[in-house]
Amino acid sequence: MATIEKSVVSEPRVIAGFDVERVREDFPVLRQTVNGKPLVYLDNAASSQVPQVVIDRGSVYLEDEHSNIHRGVHYLSQKATTAYEGAREKVKRFINAREAKECIFVRGATEGINLVMHGHGRKFITSGDEIIISAMEHHANIVPWQMLCEEKGARLRVIPMNDAGELLMDEYDALLSERTKFVAVTHISNALGTVNPIKQMIDQAHKYGVPVLIDGAQSAPHLAVDVQDLDCDFFAFSGHKMFAPTGSGVIYGKAALLEKMNPFQGGGDMIKSVTFEKTIYGDLPNKFEAGTPAIASQIGLGAAIDYLSSIDREQATAHEQELLRYATERITAIEGVRVIGTAREKTSVLSFVIDDIHPHDIGTILDQEGIAVRAGHHCAQPVMQRFNVPATARASFAFYNTKEEVDVLARTIEKVVEIFS
Ligand code: ALA
Repeated sequence: MATIEKSVVSEPRVIAGFDVERVREDFPVLRQTVNGKPLVYLDNAASSQVPQVVIDRGSVYLEDEHSNIHRGVHYLSQKATTAYEGAREKVKRFINAREAKECIFVRGATEGINLVMHGHGRKFITSGDEIIISAMEHHANIVPWQMLCEEKGARLRVIPMNDAGELLMDEYDALLSERTKFVAVTHISNALGTVNPIKQMIDQAHKYGVPVLIDGAQSAPHLAVDVQDLDCDFFAFSGHKMFAPTGSGVIYGKAALLEKMNPFQGGGDMIKSVTFEKTIYGDLPNKFEAGTPAIASQIGLGAAIDYLSSIDREQATAHEQELLRYATERITAIEGVRVIGTAREKTSVLSFVIDDIHPHDIGTILDQEGIAVRAGHHCAQPVMQRFNVPATARASFAFYNTKEEVDVLARTIEKVVEIFS
């Protein structure tokens, strides 16, 4: 058997303390100008940027390791398998799963949630059962459960929120009952920035023996996640929001639950044996990874986790919190601007509207100045309906953003107000 060479990509350097200018050097995309202005990238809740070490790791895979995994006895296949399974080990440590096999690679949080809906929901939810979600979910954590309810004759219950964008915990308590069979709730709202008290919510659901799925798409890039401490049953996140390539992501599930679930997709690599009469499914995690996965992307996710582990995350989060505080202060001081989502516990996301100006116009003028924000309903139309707005403009921060960028944003919003007044 050929020996597997140690990867030629070195581990990311450990950055002592947190120096935003130094961190920015790690992200080549940030060096460019847009419309003749330095890029101010404030669309991190949609997709964050990728550091050089992750780009390099992708190149090494493509130059040196590209091959299919799990199937080949040959050298390259073993190398690719080692890198892919190595990435799974990194994910395990990153979220503190008990075992790597509890970390299933998927294309992103959406696919992870759909996997649980199909594998768990379609097997265990029946007519008359209730599924609880919250009023601030992304469509990815609404539509799959609606589809399931429609198919099974189950009922979707929704935890309401107050005008600040905080879930009403008493209402959640009142919704939980013997009929509840599943809870799916977001850790952080992509449209409002609210950080939900998920540990408490998981505890409450577990009193009824109800499994809980956490949509961690917005939290994995910003907060330390410990799935054992949270005691969540499922946790979904996407690589492209945490400095990794698109097509990478994870659905964590407790092994005991994953074992009982139906597979999501059928195909190669997820079986032990196949005859025309019967297929015996493979063990975890293969049972849920039919076909050739996004090998390069998941290896990139492993490299992004290495990168995140190399920075002082506590200080990086504190920096993001300061950016949010400062941006909120600057923007609310502008006449006509209203922030949507003013929860006490918030992170990274600043959604706002301006009297009589459509968010798409705000986004277009900001873009002319090199500022990238998202304008629209953020795949959270019920949130827009709750706040009675068609859309918002949303600035979302990562640790590589700066106060100077917030100043540019605020000055340009002032210009937008002037243009339309
Ligand atoms: N879910 C992503 C966002 O919030 C796309 O923008």
